[in-house]
Amino acid sequence: MISNIHKPNIVIAVFLISGSIWAISPAQASVTIPYSPQIDILNTNSMMNASTSTSTTTNTAANTATSTDAVSLLENTASPTIAINAIKVWQENGDFNRKLKRGSKGNDVMVLQIILKSLLNDKTKWTMTNNFGPKTESALRSLQAKLNVPITGELDTVTKSVVNELVYKELCPTAVRKIGVDNMVESDFNKVFENLNRSTSVPLDYIPQDLTRVLNPIKTIGVMCVSERIVRHLDEMIGDAKKQKLDIAITSSYRSAEMQKFLYSLWINKSGNAAKAGIAEAGHSEHQLGTTIDVSGKSIGYAGVSPSFANSKEGKWMAQNSYKYGFIMSYPDKKQKETGYIYEPWHFRYIGVDNAKDIFTDKITIQDFLNFSTATTTSSSTTPTTSTSTINVTSEGTGTEPSGVNDMIATTTARFL
Ligand code: DAL
Ligand code: ZN
Repeated sequence: MISNIHKPNIVIAVFLISGSIWAISPAQASVTIPYSPQIDILNTNSMMNASTSTSTTTNTAANTATSTDAVSLLENTASPTIAINAIKVWQENGDFNRKLKRGSKGNDVMVLQIILKSLLNDKTKWTMTNNFGPKTESALRSLQAKLNVPITGELDTVTKSVVNELVYKELCPTAVRKIGVDNMVESDFNKVFENLNRSTSVPLDYIPQDLTRVLNPIKTIGVMCVSERIVRHLDEMIGDAKKQKLDIAITSSYRSAEMQKFLYSLWINKSGNAAKAGIAEAGHSEHQLGTTIDVSGKSIGYAGVSPSFANSKEGKWMAQNSYKYGFIMSYPDKKQKETGYIYEPWHFRYIGVDNAKDIFTDKITIQDFLNFSTATTTSSSTTPTTSTSTINVTSEGTGTEPSGVNDMIATTTARFL
């Protein structure tokens, strides 16, 4: 059973003690997203918008003021590869949102060191601290040269914006931005109804075409992105909960296959095969669809993947009301046989408002629903794709902890299941 949630500041502290975050295999450690200036421009715009996010609360004016510079700089810059663990640490901590220079102290300095080491592909041993000293400054200068930004040795406004953008675009790759749900090609739209379980999967390179950052007023713990088509439903659901004085936050959202693979190995290293009941293999996770979220509540300190969410006031509300907004708890209690996974009271998947209502009313699982739909389609159609006769598409309108790799990363993983 997965437990123990740690906030980003604790995450970083554990990292210090445990020593090396870099002791993971190269296969786990890198994600390569093909560079495209077009994508960078679009994503940089998204970062401008993101300046209003709950998780990005300071220096927003500065970010906006320099984003044009950042765009033109990125246009001429090959995108370095960032290790998946560095991406994850950045995600948990949130964007760099202040200037960092020699003498600066804080968790964000350590996150910067982690990012620097990764972006510079530095294989030497670093002693990570939360102090911005000469080594950090020298590394930052090297990175600035690589990124073709002014070499100041400080995480100034321009560099901050460029680095945030580089990491964000690997966390939330966006092949086509502002596509609009109406322009969604059928195959993408149907992924909403992908019958995903422990034996069925989506391609590892499948990326939802409409990933967008989750912004204020939707609260997130770290940087989150989801399929654009679910944003208004999330907004409505979390807003209605708020009216009941219930504060709900998103603790996990879209996860690439690479991120899922990384998390999966951590859990397997820690708990062995038993972990399989709580973490999907790469390609098998609903999180890869962009339409699935993990949530938590203020009453439990926004602890992620916490079994205590089930009995919290926010968890109870979600269990009883999420269907009204199209979300269904994918892995309910005592349904492991059907779903393949342990009870995850925090994990909700968007399935369409009408479909969710049917699933909730009939007290079935998404798995039952999709199995039935697929069976119906297969027997009645020559095209074995998702059934639109059973699945309502019109309503769209358009967790024991892992050992091995290292304790710090294993600890952070507790938030992502
Ligand atoms: N925890 C769920 C099964 C996932 O990894 O997607
Ligand atoms: Zn989940």
